[in-house]
Amino acid sequence: MAQARVIDSDYLLVLFLVFVMSSSMVLSGSSVGVNWGTMSTHQLQPEKVVQMLIENGIKKLKLFEADEEILGALIGTDIEVMLAIPNYMLLEMSQDPEAASSWVYANVSSYSYPGGVKIKYVAVGNEPFLQTYNDTYLHITLPALKNVQEALNQAGLGSTVKATVPFNADIYNSPESNPVPSAGDFRADIKDLTLQIVQYLHSNDAPFTVNIYPFLSLYGNDYFPVDFAFFDGTNYKPVRDSSFLYTNVFDANFDTLVWSLDKAGYPDMPIIVGEVGWPTDGDKNANIQNAKRFNQGLLKHALSGNGTPARKGTIDVYLFSLIDENYKSIAPGSFERHWGIFEYDGKPKYELDLSGKQKNKGLAPVEGVAYMPRRWCVLNPHAYDLEELPDSIDYACSLSDCTALGYGSSCNHLSAQGNASYAFNMYYQINNQKSWNCDFSGLAMVTDEDPSDDNCQFPVMIAYGSSLLLRGGILDVLLRIVGGCIVSGLLLLR
Ligand SMILES: *[C@@H]1O[C@H](CO)[C@@H](O)[C@H](O)[C@H]1NC(C)=O
Ligand SMILES: *[C@@H]1O[C@H](CO)[C@@H](O)[C@H](O)[C@H]1NC(C)=O
Ligand SMILES: *[C@@H]1O[C@H](CO)[C@@H](O)[C@H](O)[C@H]1NC(C)=O
Repeated sequence: MAQARVIDSDYLLVLFLVFVMSSSMVLSGSSVGVNWGTMSTHQLQPEKVVQMLIENGIKKLKLFEADEEILGALIGTDIEVMLAIPNYMLLEMSQDPEAASSWVYANVSSYSYPGGVKIKYVAVGNEPFLQTYNDTYLHITLPALKNVQEALNQAGLGSTVKATVPFNADIYNSPESNPVPSAGDFRADIKDLTLQIVQYLHSNDAPFTVNIYPFLSLYGNDYFPVDFAFFDGTNYKPVRDSSFLYTNVFDANFDTLVWSLDKAGYPDMPIIVGEVGWPTDGDKNANIQNAKRFNQGLLKHALSGNGTPARKGTIDVYLFSLIDENYKSIAPGSFERHWGIFEYDGKPKYELDLSGKQKNKGLAPVEGVAYMPRRWCVLNPHAYDLEELPDSIDYACSLSDCTALGYGSSCNHLSAQGNASYAFNMYYQINNQKSWNCDFSGLAMVTDEDPSDDNCQFPVMIAYGSSLLLRGGILDVLLRIVGGCIVSGLLLLR
């Protein structure tokens, strides 16, 4: 009897654990992740952003670098992290297992303790097979992946932390002659390399990670049916693929990967969509309405459990991105600095129900953000010698962010004078409102009247941690002091 009762309660305990484990697995699988990039001149305080993540119930995070401050702020939270090794480190990681070990030791092991940071994936590189990289990373990605996973294994973390590689979606496609997902395969020129990586990931129970951007389908192609980029449109011709019907480009793209993996012999390989999202400025299709429509439609779809035609179940997605980044390269387009669901200062841009239930639910903002004083740098209305104005605008824009001025963007309606004021202000704000940054040969002046209108925001920069440029600023000052000493030393010598 006693024996039986023990067995009974053990059995119950096991059942209970299985239940807890499976429900927590369901929870993490069925919640959305976000990409937190930090290519900004002025960073929000990591603790405050983490607090905001918690308030919004965001449980999964992808980071592009092992940022000590951010990892520090994540200690003790339940947030599951995918931590990336940037491309510039791939060469070293591929050549030197010791480098991989010390990276893992410093950036993963040291946070992986009960009550530490829940690091679940290490992303080795970011879109290393992108064609614009001219094959730079083609042959070092797999060796780097192996060294990193080996280092994780040696650190005793191999069963809980998986290394993966976030790929761009153009590593697979369907032939133009038969543009349906089931005809898809990995691109011929990189197929062997990709398959070796797939095989390695599979042998480690690691997922395949891919970034899918319906926005770019539309951006690159004026004939692309706009509604096919979204999840609720009707104005397009669905793609029929034998018995499957595709009503949006996201599913078609995702299933092209499913078929490519299937043909390689990995029909059940888990797939993570490492980046997906829609920008709000910098292009005619990039605006708040489209971004809300896309992201809300995506979340509803991805979290519904319906899956895609070729793969049922919840789709694991990480939104790109959390916060706007005003220091990102705009080589791909002006929209690059406007992917955030939050503004640079942590204000939500639009309502978004992260549970996918499509209730009109507002996001919680980052609280307690400190701003610089409410003042702006604008074109002096009394300036008369405007000869240098175009050069001044170019100069100000080249060293700040004028992506909102271009065609189809939020400030494109400004007059020539408005353009000048916008450019001057961005330069002034990014340089921390120093009075000497609002001169422009006497063309500019500081005002405490907000020049913004309903569509076009003239921002006031946040006050905390002006990392990139402030560091440059301090270096400048130091160099000047050093330079000064050398000069006075020389004078003394004479
Ligand atoms: C930890 O990661 C950061 C950012 O990627 C990197 O700069 C640093 O070198 C890493 N630490 C080690 C010991 O590799
Ligand atoms: C790739 O090659 C093109 C053409 O040769 C060149 O203009 C570009 O700078 C290269 N890009 C990189 C990242 O090396
Ligand atoms: C303002 O600047 C933008 C971007 O350079 C340009 O497209 C636009 O034509 C300018 N507006 C005027 C009135 O000059």
